[in-house]
Amino acid sequence: MRVAVQWAQPVLRDRLACWLHRPERSWTATVAPRLVALATATDGTRWRTEAVAFTSTSVAVATVRDNGVGGRYMVKVPWTTQAVEGLRRQAEVLDRLRADPSLSGLRPLLPYCAAQGEIEGRYYCVEWALRGAPASGMMLRHSQRAPLLAAAGRAIRELHQRTRERILLDRAAVAEWVDVPLRRLAEFAATHPRRGRLLDTVGRLREELVAALVGRTVHTSWIHGDYWPGNLLATAPDRQVTGIVDWDRAAPRQLPLHDLLHLHVLARRLARGDELGEIVLRALRHGIDRTLDVPAAEAADWLDGIPPRPALLLYWLRHILLFIDSEGDHDAPRWIRGNVERVLANV
Ligand SMILES: Nc1ncnc2c1ncn2[C@@H]1O[C@H](COP(=O)(O)OP(=O)(O)O)[C@@H](O)[C@H]1O
Ligand SMILES: [Mg+2]
Repeated sequence: MRVAVQWAQPVLRDRLACWLHRPERSWTATVAPRLVALATATDGTRWRTEAVAFTSTSVAVATVRDNGVGGRYMVKVPWTTQAVEGLRRQAEVLDRLRADPSLSGLRPLLPYCAAQGEIEGRYYCVEWALRGAPASGMMLRHSQRAPLLAAAGRAIRELHQRTRERILLDRAAVAEWVDVPLRRLAEFAATHPRRGRLLDTVGRLREELVAALVGRTVHTSWIHGDYWPGNLLATAPDRQVTGIVDWDRAAPRQLPLHDLLHLHVLARRLARGDELGEIVLRALRHGIDRTLDVPAAEAADWLDGIPPRPALLLYWLRHILLFIDSEGDHDAPRWIRGNVERVLANV
């Protein structure tokens, strides 16, 4: 029952978003078959829109089906400037990853952008539909969670291992991971009623992280950057990962621990409903393995020699930097309280 209560809110919010965005969804439903016909050089009458979802990042996603034998495409139409940038960036990332011969094993899991362009002044892209359903729903079943997490870990490890480099962290390398997000947090702290205390914490974290990281040799690689169960497609009976979507936060030369921590932190968030900030604090206090319910050796393997506290802080900082200024839920006071203020006040 807990699960039902926790899911009620996102489900209601999605329903509300659908209702509020009826004109965008309806326009997308009308143009989508034409765009698939254009992308596939086929006859427009062959395609019909089956459903249109409006996502929290303001993208209308239409599922378009072949009237006959069952080809399926996703037509994505972004409705804000940030959403357009996200989709364009994702198309670039996917082109690069697909062109990398060492990633041929991962290719079946990657979306393929069959066409992109503009219609009536609006950007769109047409993707082949990957098989499967979002793993976030499947993971609500306790028996599915561990095998799906293991399959998801294996899938993203392929990306990490095939693109990995060993680097010695100098002060400049650490600046991107530490100084940039802490500068954004300092801006936030400066407007806060408890600014003195929060700014002290920001300064202290900078010193602590620089001391823990500079001079250390680590492996970096491409990461997905938002590797949560909602961005994974899977099939239920065999618990196979069939797709990895939403690549606009992907980046080269990052720590693989971001993807692995995010996968497991968000799996816990889905199962129990606690905020990411709360889970990070719990992991700082009680250990990553105990908090995320993974064997100690597996958690140690994610960190690649970086001690747990700086690793968790880097993960948290990256997440905050990516989402604090993004549209959707992240400007909500509840998100700020649970993920920014709460952690800053307790580290
Ligand atoms: N190529 C695809 N094949 C199948 N389903 C997809 C594909 N792309 C997106 N989806 C579905 O649409 C949802 C939203 O797409 P996503 O790219 O994650 O948008 P957002 O950035 O808004 O989260 C995904 O969770 C997935 O269920
Ligand atoms: Mg997504």
